[in-house]
Amino acid sequence: MDVIICRDDTEVGAYAAAKVAKVARAASQAGRNAVLGVATGSSPLATYTALAALAARGKVDLSQASAFALDEYVGLPAGHPQSYREVIRRTVVEPLGLRADRVHVPDGFAGDLERAAADYERAIREAGGVDVQILGVGSNGHIGFNEPTSSLSSRTRIKTLTEQTRRDNARFFGSLEQVPKHCLTQGLGTIMEARHCVLVASGAPKAAAIRAVVEGPITAMCPGSVLQLHQRATIIVDDAAAAELELAGYYRQLYADLPDWQRVELV
Ligand code: GLP
Repeated sequence: MDVIICRDDTEVGAYAAAKVAKVARAASQAGRNAVLGVATGSSPLATYTALAALAARGKVDLSQASAFALDEYVGLPAGHPQSYREVIRRTVVEPLGLRADRVHVPDGFAGDLERAAADYERAIREAGGVDVQILGVGSNGHIGFNEPTSSLSSRTRIKTLTEQTRRDNARFFGSLEQVPKHCLTQGLGTIMEARHCVLVASGAPKAAAIRAVVEGPITAMCPGSVLQLHQRATIIVDDAAAAELELAGYYRQLYADLPDWQRVELV
């Protein structure tokens, strides 16, 4: 696990975008269209902004890339402004200039949700798997909507949201009552199959979750801790989110001393 500590959220976005762009360029060089894994929430917004700037400057071409979202609320009709399909359209598809027909979001409005989950798994497989998965983290350590006690090998499925997650996300809805209680989410096993994972977090409210993800035991009580088992996971955080890391000094030193070829260079 690589840990990069940045001075603020903008720098977190710049490093994460540079990493995503590097993976996307490598896919193009190998003659493939990149497959991105995209997340909602406020954490990755700076990453999308920086990635859009790289694309505008011709540093990465995402026009042929496809993308898979991590999750979706159950029961929000098409076009609902807080459905993740809409959030992804506004924050990812439009700014990055992705082709809408290549962007996939689980169908949380399907009549048969189990089938929708199985279809989503199949679509990821048929696309050749995700090259780089962008992740945020919930204050309780969830990634996607894999709440504590999620199986570490779970696949895309229906989950019930915790009260804490619904409260955290109530700011996007009028009230807590309007936040759906269920979702479809890629499983931890699904996420772990992405070839690279980039988790971004900023601000003091994420400090405890980041400590648990990076330095805690690998446990279903902190679903993000499963990333400790991933061979190419990069955790990019600002100073405030890094505040509880016991080995913060080591991560800073380690990054300062990395050979150039291993660095995530800002482009
Ligand atoms: C939601 C999403 C997660 C996201 C989390 C954190 O629960 N399903 O993918 O990581 O929120 O959101 P934020 O980045 O706004 O703190």
